[in-house]
Parts: sequence; C-alpha cells; structure tokens
Amino acid sequence: MAAPGGSGPIGPYPKDVSGEEGEIEYDKLRRRVLWTFPYGLYIVGSRDGDRRNGMTTNWVTQVSFEPKCVGIGVEKPAFTHELIDASGVFTVCTVAREDRAIVRKFTKPVEVDEAAMTLNGFAFHDGQTGAPVLTQAPAYVECEVRSAVEIGQHTFFIGEVVNAAFQGDEDTEVLRMEDTRMNYGG
Ligand SMILES: Cc1cc2nc3c(=O)[nH]c(=O)nc-3n(C[C@H](O)[C@H](O)[C@H](O)COP(=O)(O)O)c2cc1C
Repeated sequence: MAAPGGSGPIGPYPKDVSGEEGEIEYDKLRRRVLWTFPYGLYIVGSRDGDRRNGMTTNWVTQVSFEPKCVGIGVEKPAFTHELIDASGVFTVCTVAREDRAIVRKFTKPVEVDEAAMTLNGFAFHDGQTGAPVLTQAPAYVECEVRSAVEIGQHTFFIGEVVNAAFQGDEDTEVLRMEDTRMNYGG
C-alpha cells in the first residue's frame, strides 16, 4: 500500500542491470518477487496513557525461541509507532478468516470509544500490558519491546511475549494476506 520511499527506483542493482530503464524494470520485478512472500494479517494494538490504536499489519514474525520474541515492522510516521515508542508495549491479534473486512478499518488511527470500549466500533479490552486486544481476535500475544531496529522508513520492534491467549476456538482459521487483494511491501 504505502509507496516505497522516493519516486525513482531503489538500488542496489544486480550486475546485469544497466541504464535507467533497466533499473526501473528491475525495481518493479523485485517488488513482484517480494509480494510473493506469504504473510499473515494481524491487528497490532498499541497504547500510551489514554491514547490507543489498532493497526493492520502483515510484517509480523516470531524471531527467537528463548526468550520468546516477536518482531513487527512499523512505519515511522504511523500513530502506532509513536505509541509503541512511548510505552514499550504492543499486542498482536490474529484475525479470523471470515472477519477479513476488519483489516480495512485499521489502516489509519482509530476512533476510540472508552465508554463503549470499542476501537472503530470493534469491542476491545486492555491486556495485562495495558495495550488493547480485540475481543473478536481468535488469539493474541502481548509483548514488551526488547529491541527497536531502525531501517529506512520503518522500525522493527522486537518484543518479548509476556502474555498469550486464545479467545475462541483454537482451530479458527486465521487470515492471511492471500485471502485479500491487498499487498504491502515489495
Ligand atoms: C494489508 C495491509 C498491510 C499492512 N501492513 C503494514 C505493516 O506491516 N507495517 C506498517 O507499518 N503498516 C502496515 N500497513 C499500513 C498500516 O495499516 C497503516 O495504514 C499505517 O501504518 C498507519 O497506521 P496508524 O493508524 O498507526 O497511523 C498495512 C496496510 C495494509 C492495508
């Protein structure tokens, strides 16, 4: 979705690529290659004080066995980035395949109704870290940031899993990028 930095092609280029046209073509090809990587789709919950957010995210992966850590790539201008930077915590909520429409509702800062306990109309509760967890998420983890690696326009936040739970049937099929017509990255 978000355009990769600048308007021109991005290097480095392989040895057999030359000229501006070649660079543009290679830039497009590399993007298509990267788009074939399979991803899940998640809602990342964040909070600092009374500010909360939920963000559609596909750059999510476990990164270590011991400690149990999960990494997420977050755009620096995102509100989520500001909240995680300030609080050092985040949640990762899986999404049921049949709830795929939800991902379109979390692509910009959400409207929080604290009285109704909803994010853009979707029920949530605050986890043990204080960060929000969507009630309809089949499963979630809560993380405390242990490391933040800045790369270009993103920060890869690595968080240790301090809480994990199922909220529904453990066998619920969870959403993957290929269930949608969207892509991000490349
Ligand atoms: C399918 C899809 C996947 C996305 N994956 C990511 C992601 O992995 N990391 C990220 O920073 N933004 C991702 N985004 C963009 C965010 O959802 C969001 O638009 C942006 O980061 C701003 O979020 P904010 O509400 O925190 O400001 C994705 C958007 C879509 C539609």
